[in-house]
Amino acid sequence: MDSLKWWQKTLVYQIYPKSFCDSSGDGIGDLNGITEKLDYIRNLGVGAVWLTPVYVSPMVDNGYDIADYKNIAPEYGTMADMENLIVEAKKRGIRIVMDLVFNHTSDQHSWFKESRSDYKNSKRDWYIWRDAKPNGAAPTNWRGIFGGSAWTFDEATGQYYLHTFAKEQPDLNWENPEVRRVLYDIANFWLDKGVGGFRIDAITYIKKPVVLKDLPIDGPDGMSNVHMATANQPGILKYLHEFKREVFAGKDIFTVAEANGVSAEELPRWVGKNGAFDMLLEFNHMNLDMEKSSLWCRPVPWKLTQLKKALSDSQKATTENGWYPAFFENHDQPRSVNQFFPKNVDKKLAAKVMATVLFTLKGTPFIYEGQELGMTNTKWPSIECYDDIASKGQYAIALQEGFSKQQALEFVWKYSRDNARTPMQWTSAKNAGFTSGKPWLSLNENYNEVNAGWQMQDEDSVLRYYHRLAKLRQEYDILLKGSYEELLEADEQIYAYMRVMKEKKVIVLCNFSGKEKEYSLPKLSGNGKLLLGNYADAPDQILRAYEARVYLCEGRTTIEGCSK
Ligand code: NOJ
Repeated sequence: MDSLKWWQKTLVYQIYPKSFCDSSGDGIGDLNGITEKLDYIRNLGVGAVWLTPVYVSPMVDNGYDIADYKNIAPEYGTMADMENLIVEAKKRGIRIVMDLVFNHTSDQHSWFKESRSDYKNSKRDWYIWRDAKPNGAAPTNWRGIFGGSAWTFDEATGQYYLHTFAKEQPDLNWENPEVRRVLYDIANFWLDKGVGGFRIDAITYIKKPVVLKDLPIDGPDGMSNVHMATANQPGILKYLHEFKREVFAGKDIFTVAEANGVSAEELPRWVGKNGAFDMLLEFNHMNLDMEKSSLWCRPVPWKLTQLKKALSDSQKATTENGWYPAFFENHDQPRSVNQFFPKNVDKKLAAKVMATVLFTLKGTPFIYEGQELGMTNTKWPSIECYDDIASKGQYAIALQEGFSKQQALEFVWKYSRDNARTPMQWTSAKNAGFTSGKPWLSLNENYNEVNAGWQMQDEDSVLRYYHRLAKLRQEYDILLKGSYEELLEADEQIYAYMRVMKEKKVIVLCNFSGKEKEYSLPKLSGNGKLLLGNYADAPDQILRAYEARVYLCEGRTTIEGCSK
């Protein structure tokens, strides 16, 4: 009997609509552009497309500041276009997954306009308003995630409102039952439209502490990161279980929540049969090259064993509870070939190494647009060229800390979210075939070499490698169901693991370094069949620079250092 659900067997493809495909020529990607590309997406083996927010928004944070949850942003199209996309996707076996941004709204949402209009307004309590400290300062010393105070003073009513992110993104007050009811109603509205699930934004921040108070200062701005004060507060799960009961329970959909700050021990209450969601996007394996201080975005050296341990811990945790959403890229992250490899890496090999891991961990692979082409980071000459609100905040903090303009810009090159937001590279034609107009954000200059049109023709391309991996995952049940066991745990060059199901094993070997390495697992070629690799051949017991291989072993095989 097949016990897995459809979303455990499929691939999820994440689309940043603004940058995916522009059908109208205004330089901004749109819903009809996505519909045009559905066959391309289906050919990747994808069964669910997660759209980052497409609702009406002033776009201060590119749609994560929502002004109307039940209407489509005019620059992306109309509700009819959305309904058409859902229908056309369904015809191809693809479900559309919406992004729910429920920690905050836009300051242009009618709820907030009402809330700020009068101290006595019935929606005053829908947001988090507090008096100034006796000296007139903000109610607490919390720094928002994009930099600056997490509080903004409102002249009209003489109080401050709280915003975990930008000042244009005021936080909703989840303690108010009317707020919760209206949010559940919005999610149900989209379920009625036939969507296949939800990605739920910034969910760990919805519950605020009972008393809002100062925390120890952690930066030169005299503030303390809001995350420390509000992430994953006691009592949060009561609301999330209510959310599940009122919206998701019993439906043939999936939920994946963005959950910074949830530890492995807490997982059973968050995911799985008794948890609130199906999957959690946690970040323990990401940003290893970034200092983990409250001001982030300063480079630090990292080791492969850190990445391996983080992934293995998540694999173990999700064996017991829930299901793992494997990912290495999204719209907030630099491109993975830049994040996980040195500057001089052969980027094509590196993109294939990441893909190999992505598809062979136990869980559902999440592919971010352009990752399947091996798209890379960009470097622009000044901060004015950037759109990302977080990059601008980080640049300002770096200057405040005493770094030079050039150094601050170098941090932006490395960590900017715009690295992932440059337009999709479809062809080598003008603007990479993304738009016939002026693109809203500059393209990555390498679109002549890195584009989907060209890669479709090239057997050896990253795109064709993705196609092969998707096929393997369909052909070999063990990749869906087999257990995970890490091998060569202490090795700083090779990430090796196996998936085990009864007498079968799949062995995955990936060399993350530019140096050839002998490995000490017993000869695999004798009883192992090479299913896939990113080199043309596969010499025994040696992995070359950035080499990835996947073997299948049937019958009894003894693998050194492993219990099975
Ligand atoms: C997480 C989203 O992924 C990010 O893009 C956004 O800026 C914040 N949440 C705020 O909604």
